This record gives sequence, structure tokens and C-alpha cells, in this order.
Amino acid sequence: MPGSLPATAETSWPKDVGIVALEIYFPSQYVDQVELEKFDGASAGKYTIGLGQSKMGFCSDREDINSLCLTVVQHLMERNNLTYDCIGRLEVGTETIIDKSKSVKTVLMQLFEDSGNTDVEGIDTTNACYGGTAALFNAVNWVESSSWDGRYALVVAGDIAVYATGSARPTGGAGAIAMLVGPNATLVFERGLRGTHMQHAYDFYKPDMVSEYPVVDGKLSIQCYLSALDRCYSTYRKKICAQWQNEGMDKHFTLNDFGYMIFHSPYCKLVQKSLARLLLNDFISDSNPNTESGIYTGLDSFRDVKLEDTYFDRDVEKAFLKASAEIFDEKTKASLLVSRENGNMYTPSVYGCLASVLAQYSPQELAGQRIGVFSYGSGFAATLYSIKVSQDAMPGSSLDKLTSGLSDLKARLDSRKNVSPGVFADNMKLREETHHLANYIPQGSADDLFPGTWYLVRVDEKHRRYYARTSLMSDGPLQAALESVHSSTANEVLWVMCYTNPIT
Ligand SMILES: CC(C)(COP(=O)(O)OP(=O)(O)OC[C@H]1O[C@@H](n2cnc3c(N)ncnc32)[C@H](O)[C@@H]1OP(=O)(O)O)[C@@H](O)C(=O)NCCC(=O)NCCS
Repeated sequence: MPGSLPATAETSWPKDVGIVALEIYFPSQYVDQVELEKFDGASAGKYTIGLGQSKMGFCSDREDINSLCLTVVQHLMERNNLTYDCIGRLEVGTETIIDKSKSVKTVLMQLFEDSGNTDVEGIDTTNACYGGTAALFNAVNWVESSSWDGRYALVVAGDIAVYATGSARPTGGAGAIAMLVGPNATLVFERGLRGTHMQHAYDFYKPDMVSEYPVVDGKLSIQCYLSALDRCYSTYRKKICAQWQNEGMDKHFTLNDFGYMIFHSPYCKLVQKSLARLLLNDFISDSNPNTESGIYTGLDSFRDVKLEDTYFDRDVEKAFLKASAEIFDEKTKASLLVSRENGNMYTPSVYGCLASVLAQYSPQELAGQRIGVFSYGSGFAATLYSIKVSQDAMPGSSLDKLTSGLSDLKARLDSRKNVSPGVFADNMKLREETHHLANYIPQGSADDLFPGTWYLVRVDEKHRRYYARTSLMSDGPLQAALESVHSSTANEVLWVMCYTNPIT
């Protein structure tokens, strides 16, 4: 990949800017949601059917936002044989704040030290689960701007999503995604096609600086999410229809114009309801829908509903969930793999959905498709935009490389350790009590972390954090899968260097 960019790029607007490579990291342990229902005394099916979640990844006190991001960035660089001097911008999107001043980005700069490259723009961006998208937009905008110097941008979205005991706790999760952004991309951002909605609300926020937990108004957050979806979809459709009109096409935009549709996923059930809601939007804006046959059959009684009256309308929800069931199976269901198995990762959530799509469809099925992306962050900020997948699906094409790089996703999820809800609760308690302590040595074991995972070694008396990395070698099934895809010789050398000189 390095070298595919022009040495200087001042003369022309770079073509097809978007995601060139993508890497995902999630913790090596999870709690099972069926067991959690029992442990919490929730009714059987509430978390698994009601919320649509099956497992929830979590971190011990050995991992923090810095370690998650160090891990995912180094994996991306190693897996794609990239050198750190080919990165000209590094952006981090996170709402997991462990320092009110020092950015995660500056911590990541330690990975760049050996390359001598300090000419790296970008810094952290925060607004709940939207920060990753804002960071990604910054990166795409940079490559398309007069500031671009011809190098790649690297975007990291990472978070540890933890809630106090209570109804929100089963909607936690943790993880990080790194995305390499450049021209001639495999996943191209469609120009001018972003529908954004931003508004003030206290639906979910983190005013207590000493706690990792948010203050959540669950019902309000669902209403904000759905209202933002309506607004963004409406704006997006107006923009794409205007583009089509300019090209001489007079046509409405509907869900059918997306090959795949992915959403920020606080829990899977909300995503299924959101897809149904887009169909409701299509139905309401259709001046003459056919309710006798086809997808809108039997929906006549909903002709005059107003979107703002329907956020919690059971009849509307049920009817449109039924009507959109097939579209959900075709366009969205597969995207929920990571969300269902690992939970809400906050900023990386929607990009975990993207990774899930890329991991489960063949290059032939993906080539040329438009992927709709809905990103939501409480408070609230939201955008619906679209990505076009490149056309070339031949073996060895960039699309083939991108999908085969993620082909071990299910194996990686399956190789995690199932930990009992009691141990999970103990870990949450430990994080509560030790979060932000100075002079602290984490108690969690580093033995069960995935190969090549950065972890916290200690926090000194001045709150400075020191990290080390686990060996890249393992006899487990995961390593066998990774080794079949990537050579590890260079990585082992890197690990020895990093491990013997823990970074602060
Ligand atoms: C999402 C959240 C509000 C749900 O908590 P809650 O109020 O205790 O949950 P509910 O009682 O509404 O139950 C959740 C769903 O499970 C269903 N359910 C409850 N018990 C059930 C059972 N035994 N079997 C099957 N379904 C069940 C409920 O009917 C409900 O379905 P619905 O959403 O279609 O109405 C809470 O987890 C939360 O605050 N999460 C964090 C914020 C968040 O994720 N917001 C989303 C937008 S960003």
C-alpha cells in the first residue's frame, strides 16, 4: 500500500477518497447475556430477545482507552505492512476520557517514534458515540483539502462502554476500530451526501469526572436517536435527489437504493426498529403508495401518521417491523455480528457493523454497492451518509484484500473466554474503585489477553501510565488463523522492542 499515493498531490483533487484498510479490536473476554439475565434477576429473554444481545465484551483494569487504541493501530499497521512515515494525519474519536488535557492521539505517537515521523496532524474528538464519525470526516476532508500532503490519514475510534448496575448495564461493550483513509479507496465516501442533525438534549452524558459511568435517560435517548434518524434520512434523500436531478434523473430515493444499511448499534433491537423506521419514512413520503400488493400491503391505515407521534407507537412499530423483515435480512442483519456478540462499543459501534458486513459478504456481493451509514452520538449529534464499494472484486483486488483481512472476525469472536456474571460484576467494581487512582498497579491478569494486545502495567504517582504488549505468539486457534493470513517475523521483533521498553 505505501507508494500507491502520489509523492506530491498538489495539482488535482484526489479521487475516490475513503477507507483503504480497516482493523477491529475487542476484549478477549465476554459475559453471556442469558447468564447475565439470571444474575441480574431480569426476566428471561429481556436482554437476549428484548434488546437482541447475546454476549458483552468487557475489559479488566488491565485495559484502558490508550491501550485499546495502541493495540488496534499497531494491528492495522502490521497487518497491512505499513510504515509509520506514510501517515500524515491521525485522528481519535472517543468518549472514554481519562485525561482532561492530554489526548489519546499523543499517546499513540509513541508508536511513531522509531520512524522519526512527528509531522502528523489531528487530535481527539468527543461527542458520545459520534466522535469516531467526526474524526473520520476530518480525515476524509483533510485528504480532499489543500492541506493534504499526499500521505494517508489514520482514524481510530475506541471506547469502553460501562454502565452502573441497572437497566442500562447489559448495553455495554468495549473495543476499537482503526481505519486508513486515502484516495483510490475501496470504500469511497460519496461526495456531498451527508445528512446531519445536531440538537441539544440531556439523553446520555458524563458530568461526573471521577466516574466512568454516564447519566442516562434511556427512553429519551431512544427518542433522540429515532428523531435524528428521521431528520438525517430526510436531508440525505433531498441531497441525493438533487444530485440525481442535476444528472437528469427524476426519481425518489428509497431504502432499495442502499445495498446495505448500517446503524450505530446501542443494542441490536433498536437497529431492527430503525430499519423499519426508514421504511416508514419511505411510505409517508410516497405520494401514492401501493397498499394492495408489494411491500406496503395492508399499511393503508398508517397513511396519515406523523413521524414525531410514532417513536413509541406499538402499532406502527409492529406493522413496519413486519413489512421490513425481508429488507432487514438482506441489508442490515449481517452487520449486527459484532454488536450482538460484543455489545455497544460506542464510537466504533457503527464501524463494527461495517466490519461485520465486510467479513460476511464476498467481494462479488459487495462490489459496486452503496452502504448507508447512520451514526448517532447522544447529546446529540447524528449523520447519515453513504459509502460506495469499489467495483473490482477480482482476487488480489483491494476489495478482496479488505474482506480477506477481516475473514477471521467470527473466529476471533468465538475464541474469546466466557466469564461468569459474578466475575464480570467484580471487574466492574474494581474499575469503579480504582479508576483514576495514582500509584496503581492493575490487578487483572494479562495472561488471557489476545496476542499482540497492549495493556496497562502501572500508573505512577503523577498519573503517568505505562504500557506493555503481550506476545504475538500463541498456540491457540486465533493465532493459527492470524498466521495463515499474515507473516509474523517482523512483528515478533517489534514486540520484543516494545515489551522490553514499556511505553508510558
Ligand atoms: C435501552 C434501555 C432504555 C432499556 O432498558 P429498560 O427500560 O429496562 O428496558 P425495557 O423494559 O424497555 O425492555 C427492553 C425491551 O425488552 C423487552 N422485554 C422485556 N422483558 C422481556 C422478555 N422477558 N422477553 C422478551 N422481551 C422482553 C421489552 O418489551 C422492551 O422491548 P421494546 O423496546 O420493544 O419495548 C436501557 O438498556 C438503557 O438505558 N440503555 C443505555 C442507553 C441506550 O442504549 N440508548 C439507546 C439510544 S442511544
